[in-house]
Amino acid sequence: MDAPKTPLACVILTAGFGKRMKSARPKVMHEIAGQPMIKWLLRSVEELAPEKIIVVTAPDAVSVAQTVKPHMTVVQQKPLGTGDAVRAALPALAGFTGDVLVLLGDMPLLSAGMMQGLIETRRHGPDTGMAVLGVEFKNPPAYGRLVMNPDRTLNRIVEDKDATPEERAIKLCNTGAFCIDGARLADWVGKIGNTNAQGEYYITDLPGIAAKEGIKTRVCILYDADEVTGVNSRADLAVAETVVQKRLRKKALENGATLIDPDTVYFSWDTKLGRDVVVGPNVVFGPGVVVGDDVTIHAFSHIEGARIDNDCVVGPFARLRPGTHLWQKVRVGNFVEVKNSLLHDGVKANHLAYIGDAEIGAGTNYSCGAITANYDGFDKHKTVIGENVMVGSNVTLVAPVTLGNGAYIAAGSTVTKDVSADALVVERAETKQLEGWAARNRKKKNAK
Ligand code: UD1
Ligand code: MG
Repeated sequence: MDAPKTPLACVILTAGFGKRMKSARPKVMHEIAGQPMIKWLLRSVEELAPEKIIVVTAPDAVSVAQTVKPHMTVVQQKPLGTGDAVRAALPALAGFTGDVLVLLGDMPLLSAGMMQGLIETRRHGPDTGMAVLGVEFKNPPAYGRLVMNPDRTLNRIVEDKDATPEERAIKLCNTGAFCIDGARLADWVGKIGNTNAQGEYYITDLPGIAAKEGIKTRVCILYDADEVTGVNSRADLAVAETVVQKRLRKKALENGATLIDPDTVYFSWDTKLGRDVVVGPNVVFGPGVVVGDDVTIHAFSHIEGARIDNDCVVGPFARLRPGTHLWQKVRVGNFVEVKNSLLHDGVKANHLAYIGDAEIGAGTNYSCGAITANYDGFDKHKTVIGENVMVGSNVTLVAPVTLGNGAYIAAGSTVTKDVSADALVVERAETKQLEGWAARNRKKKNAK
């Protein structure tokens, strides 16, 4: 029989100033592949199904509290350091004696597997009160260094700013992820002081404090440094984006999509591609895209919040905005923008067109330059187009308007009234043709 499982709680720290981001937004709300950093971390933590997840935020971080729901938030009144941030979570952990996983909100790419490894390291034996996730860098960034004992347990962590040159030469660094015995956490946190270079209460003092009581800290070593891409600046954020995009491209290829030039395709965290999808170079997927089977998306298309069913062809240079749903065998060609619209099977909108707040019936042809005038300056209105309609070039459909099945709208018409099924609408001034006028005009000009 398995031993009874030690309960798990998780505390995520997000209350720092994030000064190096130079941003009005909380650092953890900056996005990686269309999803706030904090969500990346939460999704991994949720895989471990802890009893509680407590997110420590700054007092004004309403957006963070909203984003992490239904998980609870506690406020750290002033960012006095990572140790003080853990202190802010203690009341929410009152009576909890299981393992407490402490994670930094700005290490968003840590996987559930690594977190599990860290938890197991902490459960090594009764002499072990804590585990720290370490990573070795050839050229360490300004991270805390792990000073080891000869028996490979951790002696203490020294912050980069407090380190001597010898200590700074240590390659093994603190990722910031800890797993701590919940029964001892409050006592140890109470012993953290702030006599250091930054005058802050450091969580990294805990291993030294435990050691004084003869309690050991073990280090779980991470070999995939990409997982601990810490985000302290915009440059770091760009690195994290690169790491995630690499993973998403790999996943798309493994799942049976062809990416003609993978490095130029940008995915969102939630992009779903069917079987035998071909994606051309320089295609960008925003959040909320679901693509069916046998779809081709040509180069330079930008797609967000859209569903594309089987056998569609999109682009090059197409823009599909939120609320777009292309049923099967739809073609949306170059410089066509579609927003909040449903295009039934086999609709063709091949060139230079705008379709907004519309529903277009099966088999309809929506020609070059046609647009829905869906906005009257105050409100948006709907355009409903029947099946097998011919919407000619440069047609303006002034919404709200409905075109019956099989209607034919001649090029250049502006349609302001509903059109009956199978009717022809021609809305244009009669053509005047003056025979020989051009030749006479040329002669006159040349004579000057
Ligand atoms: C921290 C670690 C360092 C580690 C590095 C890895 C400490 C003292 N240092 O340094 O050893 O190598 O992470 O990235 O822990 N936060 C609060 N309240 C505060 C201060 C910070 O919630 O008062 C939060 C921040 O929002 C952030 C996280 O804690 O998400 C880490 O803080 P940050 O200032 O980025 O620490 P680092 O300098 O990166
Ligand atoms: Mg940091």
